[in-house]
Amino acid sequence: MIEARDLVKQYRMGQVTLQALRGVSFQVETGSFVAIVGPSGAGKSTLLHLLAGLDSPTKGEVLWEGQALSSISDAKRSMLRNRMLGVVFQSYHLMSELSALENVMLPGLVNGQATLRQLRERGLSCLEQVGLAHRIQHRPQQLSGGEQQRVAIARALVNRPRVLLCDEPSGNLDSATGEEIANLLIRFCEQERVSLILVTHDTRFSSRAHRILVMRDGQIVSDGPVSESHK
Ligand SMILES: Nc1ncnc2c1ncn2[C@@H]1O[C@H](COP(=O)(O)OP(=O)(O)OP(=O)(O)O)[C@@H](O)[C@H]1O
Ligand SMILES: [Mg+2]
Repeated sequence: MIEARDLVKQYRMGQVTLQALRGVSFQVETGSFVAIVGPSGAGKSTLLHLLAGLDSPTKGEVLWEGQALSSISDAKRSMLRNRMLGVVFQSYHLMSELSALENVMLPGLVNGQATLRQLRERGLSCLEQVGLAHRIQHRPQQLSGGEQQRVAIARALVNRPRVLLCDEPSGNLDSATGEEIANLLIRFCEQERVSLILVTHDTRFSSRAHRILVMRDGQIVSDGPVSESHK
């Protein structure tokens, strides 16, 4: 479904080359829940950006449903991303001039497969699912950090993705809301058979994953089912 093949990512900083990823390979099957954990700077967000096709690897390849991203045009990649993937990043990237509801509807407008009315209904239902039905007209700057995070999650669900990529989705939430969001994401992905790839420090998420990838220094140092020590 989604595959990383020997991904290397280097950043050139003047004279110095920084190795953010040093050969990362794995495959994620439909409907499975993979947690990515590891210390700050390990390369988790870099990996997620590459999996989302938002940045290109220095070496290696990302494949979506067997298709190498390097072999398709930017336009086709954007279209596939919009149809297939939901992405929630550490910084929410909401459009400041749009309301919460409009932000959630936006990927659906780009997709162009639903009418405005259907999209509005779907947007409302996604906002309801994240507990924000009472904030639909708010602009991002009128929302708390946790509320903005929840708008970003609702937006990621609006096109009914096959794969959901999330970077610290509970990072800005209090513990009760974090728990709710964890339940919501996991339930949604189980019900819809969506693959969930989730970067997290939160053991409430990782303990429920089918598989945990531990990253350190740009590499996967452990890849396996959740061990008892994680529960
Ligand atoms: N655009 C960039 N230019 C230069 N270096 C970068 C860039 N993006 C990331 N890095 C470096 O690559 C390494 C991996 O960064 P990354 O953001 O993937 O870490 P992370 O595992 O997500 O950390 P955190 O848990 O703090 O979010 C870091 O050392 C970071 O400084
Ligand atoms: Mg990160």
